[in-house]
Amino acid sequence: MIEAVILVGGEGTRLRPLTDTRPKPMMSLVDRPFVAHQLDQLRRFGVSDVIFSCGYLPAALEEHFGNGTSIGMRIRYVVDPSPLGTAGAVKNAEHLLEGSQVLVFNGDVLTDLDLSLVAEQHDSSGVAGTLALTPVDDPSRYGLVRLHPDRAVEEFLEKPRAEQLRPGEPFLINAGTYLLEREVLDHIPEGTPCSIERDVFPALAAAGRLAGYPSDSYWRDIGTPDSYLKAHLDVLAGRVRTESPVGESYVAEGARVAPDARVEFGSTIGPGAVVEGGAVVIGSVVGAGARIGRSAKLDGAIVGASVVVGDRATLEHGVVVGDGATIASGVTITGAIIATNADIDQSQ
Ligand code: GTP
Repeated sequence: MIEAVILVGGEGTRLRPLTDTRPKPMMSLVDRPFVAHQLDQLRRFGVSDVIFSCGYLPAALEEHFGNGTSIGMRIRYVVDPSPLGTAGAVKNAEHLLEGSQVLVFNGDVLTDLDLSLVAEQHDSSGVAGTLALTPVDDPSRYGLVRLHPDRAVEEFLEKPRAEQLRPGEPFLINAGTYLLEREVLDHIPEGTPCSIERDVFPALAAAGRLAGYPSDSYWRDIGTPDSYLKAHLDVLAGRVRTESPVGESYVAEGARVAPDARVEFGSTIGPGAVVEGGAVVIGSVVGAGARIGRSAKLDGAIVGASVVVGDRATLEHGVVVGDGATIASGVTITGAIIATNADIDQSQ
C-alpha cells in the first residue's frame, strides 16, 4: 500500500490576491478544486490514502473533502504549527503513515504522469527516493537536475548559468512528485523549517541514494496567473488526462450565459456566475457568483468569486481581479492586479 502526502500549506503568493481567500490547491480548475485533479490521478493508480499537509488557510480543504469517504478515499489532515517548508511538512505527517513508502505531491502541479512507472523504476533501483523530472527548454529559472546514465542523481544546479550547461544534455527539472522510502523521513528534523529540495535531496544524491524519473508526460505548475489560465486551456483541450469535461469552454451548472453572449477559447464560467447579453469572454476564468455586465469584454482575465464587472468594461492581457471587487461600467483594465473587494471606477 502506498500513501500520499500532498503539500498544500504554501501561501501561494504568486497568485495573490486570489489566494487571499483560498489556499492555492483550492483554486478551481475547470469544474473542481485544483487538488481534486491530483486526487483523481492518485485514485487512477490505486492510491486512496491521502494526507493533506496544510498550513495556510487549512480549513478550506477539510470543509470541502472531509474524510474522503464520499469520493472513495481516506483523507486525513495535518497542519504546520508555523511554516515547516516542504520537508518539514512531510515530516509533520509521519505519525499518520503506515506503509514503508510515501508518495509526495506538491499541491500545485497538474500532470498525468504514470505513477506506476515511477514506482517500477524506484522499486527496481533500490534507492531511497525517486523524483519525477520534466524537461524544459530553458533551465535558467529552475533547478536543473543532472542524472548519471543509470538515472542516479548526479547533482542539482540551482538557476544554472549558460556556461554551466553541457552541450546536448537534457534540461530536466524537479516535477514536484516524489516516491520516498520511509527512512528518508529520518533525515528530516522535527518541528523546524526544512526544504526537501534544498536540504534533503542534495544529501541523498551525494550518498547515491536518489534517482530521477524523466518523463515527457504533460506537466504544469499552476502557481502563476499565466500558467493557471493555460492549465484551463489544456484541460479543456484534452491535452492532459483529467476527469473534467473537454470542450471549447466550460459553463458550470447554475451559471447563466445570455444567448447573445460569447464564451470562447478555453474560458470557464464558475457556478452561479452570470454573463450578460453581448458580453464576450475569451480565454478567461470567471469565478463563482461573478457577474459580467452587458457588452463587457474579458480577454485573458482571471476574475475572482462574486466580482461585478460593469457593462461595457474591458479586462484584458492577464488582469487578475480579487474576490468581491467591483469594476465600474465602461472601465478598461489591461494587465493589472486588482485587490480583493476593490472598487475600481477608472481605467488602469
Ligand atoms: P508561492 O508563494 O507563490 O511560491 O507559492 P507556494 O509557497 O504556495 O508554493 P511553492 O511552489 O513554493 O511550494 C510547493 C508546494 O508545497 C505547494 O503546493 C505549497 O502549498 C507547498 N508548501 C510550500 N511550503 C510549505 C510549507 O511550509 N508547509 C506546507 N504544509 N506546505 C508547503
